[in-house]
Amino acid sequence: MVHLLLRRNWIGRIRLALTLAGLPFTVCSSGVRPAISCTPSYPFRATKTITSTSTSCCKRYTTSVRTMPSSATLHVKSRCPQYPGSKIKRLPVPDDKVDWSQKWPQYNPVNHTDPAVLKKPVWADAEIGDFCLFFSVFSPKFNTVDAGVDRTGFEGTYKVENGKPLNPHGRTGVTGRGLLGRWGPNHAADPIVTRWKVDAKGAKILHSVSKRPILQFVAIKRKDCGEWAIPGGMVDPGEQVSLTLQREFSEEALNSLSVVPAERAKIHERINKLFKSPGFQVYKGYVDDPRNTDNAWMETVAVNFHDESGNSVSELPLQAGDDAGQVKWVDVDSSFALYASHSHFLELVTKERKAHW
Ligand SMILES: *[C@@H]1O[C@H](CO)[C@@H](O)[C@H](O)[C@H]1NC(C)=O
Repeated sequence: MVHLLLRRNWIGRIRLALTLAGLPFTVCSSGVRPAISCTPSYPFRATKTITSTSTSCCKRYTTSVRTMPSSATLHVKSRCPQYPGSKIKRLPVPDDKVDWSQKWPQYNPVNHTDPAVLKKPVWADAEIGDFCLFFSVFSPKFNTVDAGVDRTGFEGTYKVENGKPLNPHGRTGVTGRGLLGRWGPNHAADPIVTRWKVDAKGAKILHSVSKRPILQFVAIKRKDCGEWAIPGGMVDPGEQVSLTLQREFSEEALNSLSVVPAERAKIHERINKLFKSPGFQVYKGYVDDPRNTDNAWMETVAVNFHDESGNSVSELPLQAGDDAGQVKWVDVDSSFALYASHSHFLELVTKERKAHW
């Protein structure tokens, strides 16, 4: 900590010196994203959007069409007319012009990077070409791990044009980074923690129609709009995805519980154990997200950790059905109006576990 403070102070002095000398200045090193929150400056964390029946801000991202987040489908939300958190209107991109291989010489998208991103918070890159410390110019290396930041795409090599990465799923009608911090892929991780719904005697409850056992997953309440969501979050630079999955789950689900330290240690132990189990990788790849641009996009790894026996995290003191809490067990069911890709993730989990959908 002392070390960090000193370092910050040191950079601060150089910044001050350069500012006094009237030179533009940027620290180009990779920072660590602050703890997740749905703050107004970063409000559209669609990676953790699910549900629901309410009419809140999240609703604009729910859809009755359960789009598969696969490479086979054209991105749709990445072309939503209004860019989230702004007054920016995307240049409309017709379906047949999404693919970069389709010639479109007149294509003139809007350049937009959110002011919050331009302020250079620790989780964001600098503008490409900006002057950095020691008078170098910011030009990240793409398709590789560059200074601790993983810039590889989950779906293989993406193109780079004029020093800027190109969205592997095609045109979006916006250039720049919008609300996203990184040029190129912005990696997230979605831990889907499940258990069986059981009766007082511990027997699995079967769904009245499908006659299949019902799964429940841990959902958290979004701080920005009160919607229930999978407790996902962004992968920190240099962090293993497996760690992100556990960290996000612990931060979001555990920290909101009011339990005594001894109890907390016990829960922590169980979470550790569950996340050390292999888990079922539900999805790894591009996410069709309203924040995506031509040069920055969301990618995620969704992994299901399932407490089969019911004696691990199933006993987490979460109140099922209690909307007042910050975290709860939710029945997995297709009738829920889920955020499209999350709905698809949960459907795959039910297939894998032979559960009700
Ligand atoms: C796009 O906007 C950013 C700041 O919002 C600016 O730094 C950059 O030069 C612009 N790029 C182009 C190609 O106009």
